[in-house]
Amino acid sequence: MAQGRMRLTAGLSAAFAVVTVAGMLESAGPARISGSPFGYVTPALAADNGDLFAPIAEVLRHPRCMNCHPRDDRPRQGEDRHPHQQNVVRGDDGLGFTNMRCTSCHREENNAYSAVPGAPTWHLAPLSMGWQGLNNADLCAALKDEKRNGGRNVAALVEHMDKDKLVLWGWEPGGKRAPVSTPHDQFVKQLKDWAAADAPCPKS
Ligand code: HEC
Ligand code: HEC
Repeated sequence: MAQGRMRLTAGLSAAFAVVTVAGMLESAGPARISGSPFGYVTPALAADNGDLFAPIAEVLRHPRCMNCHPRDDRPRQGEDRHPHQQNVVRGDDGLGFTNMRCTSCHREENNAYSAVPGAPTWHLAPLSMGWQGLNNADLCAALKDEKRNGGRNVAALVEHMDKDKLVLWGWEPGGKRAPVSTPHDQFVKQLKDWAAADAPCPKS
């Protein structure tokens, strides 16, 4: 009798241990969110919270976008985002300094011979629209902040990323440059889903 109870107790604590370990594993994985009653994102919650932003962040972080959205005065080049050669800098208007104006080299379209990339109004994104090095939470906040993003509400942001020529260039970058990996129509769908859920931002 006593032995039976001991066996039961041992069985119960073993089961409890399994639950605890499973809980630890689960909470070690996905990002914590304060709004969740569980303290971490379950798949069901992920569907309607800031995780909708994750695939968008992946596109924004692509070198084709990030090279023009630095948080300093130097455009970047290439897959490794090295500083622009010839010491090209932002200048007062994002178009470069004196004889190093963006448009002296960059034209309205990619140059097939010189491989200089091009699109209409080629210039550096303003400092307030710099994203390099931001985590998803800060990137999402910066993107949506109308004081920093050129006064765009969420609908205008979606529209910009659907139609803007500099954005679209990211899918036809010319030369040996890799286009943004997510197809553009899929990206626009991700943006619309995010907007429809009231454009939630992740906590980290
Ligand atoms: C050649 C440089 C260049 C490239 C490449 C570029 N951008 Fe931009 N981006 C700009 C400039 C300049 C502005 C500001 C334009 C304005 O306010 O009218 C801007 C503004 C934006 C904005 C609105 C501002 C904000 O902070 O929300 C978004 C969104 C954006 N770009 C997304 C992208 C994405 C996505 C890509 C890549 C697919 C990309 N950009 C590639 C130069 C660039
Ligand atoms: C003296 C000519 C010249 C000037 C001036 C110039 N660029 Fe460039 N830029 C180039 C060349 C050439 C490349 C291609 C380099 C390569 O592919 O290795 C390039 C590449 C880039 C890229 C990289 C695209 C990518 O994703 O790899 C960006 C971004 C860029 N330039 C932005 C600018 C901006 C913004 C300005 C003005 C502030 C500017 N450039 C001024 C010649 C110039």
